[in-house]
Amino acid sequence: MSTIAIAGASGKLGGATLSALLAHNLIPASSIIALTSSHPGSSTFATLAATAPGLQVRHASFEDPASFEQALAGVDRFFLVSTPHVQLDYDRLVQEGDGDGKKKWVEVPDGEGRERHHRVAVDAAVKAGVRCICYSSLAFAYDPQRKAGKSTSKAGVMRAHLRTEAYLARLRDEGRLENVTVIREGLYAESWPLYLGYFAPDGADDRREVLLAGDGKVSWTAIRDLGIASAVVLTAPSGEFGNRLFYLSTRARTAKNLAEIAGLVGAARGREVGVRVVGRREHERYYVEERGLDAAAVRWWAGTYEALEEGECEVDDGMLEELLGRVGVKPEGVEEVVRRMVKG
Ligand SMILES: NC(=O)c1ccc[n+]([C@@H]2O[C@H](COP(=O)([O-])OP(=O)(O)OC[C@H]3O[C@@H](n4cnc5c(N)ncnc54)[C@H](OP(=O)(O)O)[C@@H]3O)[C@@H](O)[C@H]2O)c1
Repeated sequence: MSTIAIAGASGKLGGATLSALLAHNLIPASSIIALTSSHPGSSTFATLAATAPGLQVRHASFEDPASFEQALAGVDRFFLVSTPHVQLDYDRLVQEGDGDGKKKWVEVPDGEGRERHHRVAVDAAVKAGVRCICYSSLAFAYDPQRKAGKSTSKAGVMRAHLRTEAYLARLRDEGRLENVTVIREGLYAESWPLYLGYFAPDGADDRREVLLAGDGKVSWTAIRDLGIASAVVLTAPSGEFGNRLFYLSTRARTAKNLAEIAGLVGAARGREVGVRVVGRREHERYYVEERGLDAAAVRWWAGTYEALEEGECEVDDGMLEELLGRVGVKPEGVEEVVRRMVKG
């Protein structure tokens, strides 16, 4: 039986994948290595170790290449769940050269955004002799006309993923990795508050109208389902998903835009909530000046809405349904997720 290591095993996606591997008996616990940046003796380490008898827990930090290399020793397949440190991606406001005191935003250079963390893990995997990497990318950059993924996106959140995908493809082409699987994981159904103007689902948010830079359909996908489908991919024969890039996402026919999500939220709270599309400049001004959010973070996030308008997240792919079907599970709809999360 192959040994599978999971980065981010204590997090939402890595944790859902770990749970699914165990709950559906896809692989013995003794063949799983849960990676964590925490150290032995910490509560995270202990919680992971208590998940199942025989499961190994190893320390590996994106900030420490040697720790990843050690942790990946003897591993056959490595599930690289992307780093959560999104602040690495934010463009920088720098002084313009002509000395008139103006500042301008410059894009984070390739290798310095979140892809820096991913390269640490990938390079360590190559050094440790891991031949198969499965990378959790994100379900933007879908081309609804071609019904396929593309390698460009309007969304800043996708930039580090595209750069990491390209890095992995390069190492595979150079023969340094045998098998690369890229999963463009569906947008979490649970992450609708972030898209809906950082809406607070706990009842504290009294906005009746949410200002947004744009709107478009999203094939929202529950984290539980992403974990199950990712677990099925990780334990399939290596020929089935090796050297492929694909989406795990609910179907386009059930996709919902943010105005529809606002409607579901309003229905669940018994108080109407709507959406007003104001364009990118006003969106950035409003969330920075009126709601006090960090300018770099808002700017980075605002491109997301242009991507939604272009249909980048209206994914029409049956892979998720098919993989869930193999273990007898049906996808959870975003309606159920919103109802579960919203409090009046
Ligand atoms: N598909 C989507 O819609 C969607 C939504 C949100 C986020 N994402 C992306 O998916 C990825 C995983 O998200 P998530 O929701 O599972 O995040 P999460 O719940 O915040 O988990 C992040 C994981 O990263 C680990 N981690 C933190 N710092 C680390 C470091 N320096 N070195 C190694 N590991 C480290 C944490 O584990 P330890 O503390 O144990 O190290 C934790 O398990 C992130 O890239 C996130 O941006 C996707």
